[in-house]
Amino acid sequence: MTAGFYDDPASVAAYLDHRHSKIRSPNLVMEDPAFAAAIGELEGLRILDLGCGDGTFGLTCSNQGCSTYLGVDSSQEMIRRANHLTAGPLVEFVQDSIEVYVPNAAAYDLVTSRMALHYVEDLNPIFERVSQALVPSGSFVFSVIHPIITSGNQAPDGPRQTQVVDNYFSSGPRSRSWFGRPVLWHHRTIEQYLSLLSGAGLSLTGLAECRPVRELFAGDQAEYERRLRVPVFLLLQAAR
Ligand SMILES: C[S@@+](CC[C@H](N)C(=O)[O-])C[C@H]1O[C@@H](n2cnc3c(N)ncnc32)[C@H](O)[C@@H]1O
Repeated sequence: MTAGFYDDPASVAAYLDHRHSKIRSPNLVMEDPAFAAAIGELEGLRILDLGCGDGTFGLTCSNQGCSTYLGVDSSQEMIRRANHLTAGPLVEFVQDSIEVYVPNAAAYDLVTSRMALHYVEDLNPIFERVSQALVPSGSFVFSVIHPIITSGNQAPDGPRQTQVVDNYFSSGPRSRSWFGRPVLWHHRTIEQYLSLLSGAGLSLTGLAECRPVRELFAGDQAEYERRLRVPVFLLLQAAR
């Protein structure tokens, strides 16, 4: 569970300010382009998104002609914002936790989850449900905070320049301070993510560490070079 962070409108507002802050947002300049490349064309797809946040990706899916989009998120504040942002009959949001929500079987061409699964303690049953929710040729694409960052429990003091990797092989919860509030992240090694996927009958089709692309930093060479130092995201892609 999210330890309250996403239930607090002030924390959500602080997070979303950063999330949408152009080149200062690693999501926009690093995770977004890698995610877009992994999912490809969305036209005609039935999409399930776990931990959908404020609906921005739902809007993208709708604008790109998806058949349907269903976003699930446990945060009342995120779902409120999503419903405000994303109108349209093909796009729906449900307030529920990833641990509890059971999607329909063989109902989706694409299941996504962006920066949410490191909040979930046990991914075994989630990946099983994702596998069952996909049609036979369907794919699962998700991003999490890179295990190099989730391994430790120290928050950077200002913009991150370096990262101490510690207790890497001890998976489990890490209490962190994030935007000045406590959160609980669940650390797993890359090997464990891959083994969870194959245990659920999903075959790895792609892995990206969301390397920064200079052109997306709008000429801010210092920020680009800072982002070359420590990986922030891990993106995995699997097929049923
Ligand atoms: C870092 S935000 C990412 C939101 C969105 N996917 C994006 O990329 O902008 C993480 C989201 O996951 C949701 N979340 C975290 N743990 C969850 C859980 N156990 N069940 C459902 N949603 C969860 C939070 O409420 C939040 O909206």
